[in-house]
Amino acid sequence: MTDVTRNWEEFNSTEVSAKIPFFTKDGRLYDCLFAQQFDRALLDRLFTLANKLRATAQTKEGADFLLSLLSHKRAMLYFVQPSTRTFLSFQNACHLLGLKTSEIRDTNTSSEIKGESPEDSVRTFSSYVDLIIMRHPVPGFVEKTAWVMNRAKRPVPVISGGSGKDQHPTQALLDVYTLDSQLEGGVDGKTIVMVGDLKRGRTVRSLSYLMKNYKRVKLYFVSPPQLRMEKDILTFLSKHTIPYRETDDLGSVMREADAIYMTRIQDEHDVAGESRKVDYSKFQFRAEHLAVIKKTCIIMHPLPRREEIEVEVDEDDRAVYWRQERNGMWVRAALIAHLFSVEDEILGRK
Ligand code: NCD
Repeated sequence: MTDVTRNWEEFNSTEVSAKIPFFTKDGRLYDCLFAQQFDRALLDRLFTLANKLRATAQTKEGADFLLSLLSHKRAMLYFVQPSTRTFLSFQNACHLLGLKTSEIRDTNTSSEIKGESPEDSVRTFSSYVDLIIMRHPVPGFVEKTAWVMNRAKRPVPVISGGSGKDQHPTQALLDVYTLDSQLEGGVDGKTIVMVGDLKRGRTVRSLSYLMKNYKRVKLYFVSPPQLRMEKDILTFLSKHTIPYRETDDLGSVMREADAIYMTRIQDEHDVAGESRKVDYSKFQFRAEHLAVIKKTCIIMHPLPRREEIEVEVDEDDRAVYWRQERNGMWVRAALIAHLFSVEDEILGRK
């Protein structure tokens, strides 16, 4: 352990690339906090594993085998920010592998209401569980939890299920898994259009980071001028020579797209109702657009949606968001299997 890991403030102010080794053990992820932790080999391995898990779970025999793998482990789901899909898919991913789960979904029901610090509450979990999966409204809080847990007497791995408006690494994982399986020839060489509140949407931020793992990818960022992608992401893309263009005109780029990734306006982050001033009608995918996009272009959304995608679009084969949502369970199960080193048992099963 280097000195910098002893002090949170110091550790927190170092570059993500320098932090990654602290969240890695014996050549595998120990905590999952940043999309930058995934390299191509790991992504490909997790996708193969997710496919194998999906196929294995089809039969009772296979499902029972999976259930036996981590039946000696327990997970804590600490989700103190609204969540439907991420929570349920993680919970079911745990159950697929036999992990028992407990949950806190509201700080009003935990001792935080009695004045216990969130850090102390979190430390308490390590007494009872072997894995913490966490969603928190404050950027950096999940990372701090992992930092605390890694230094605890009984270390426990931490997976982020969304950390403020900063990152949502496992959403990016399921998004790339979906792109990889739905696009002919995978993600390499594809044009991906991300639409909506790119400034505060953690899913598009994490997805952008993952693009470093693919060759010849081109990105279009379509957003209202007030909600453009933040500079840190644009700098990252330039550093990795990933071409991108920003625009507020969806119509001008949709013909070229291999995938269109729609997002909702993240108005929970408004300080003074600023997004009420935004005309969001230009950032919607409507049924009439189906005739304009490529026959092979897929339409994605992390969900939940509001008006970004007309409900009529759901009927089209190119609308993959419901499949994308289900993919979350398989790829999250693959990630947990990786963290607990049971992937070879799954991949090796006849
Ligand atoms: C996203 C999130 O929570 O960031 N939802 C999800 O995890 N599927 C997107 C959103 O809330 O808009």
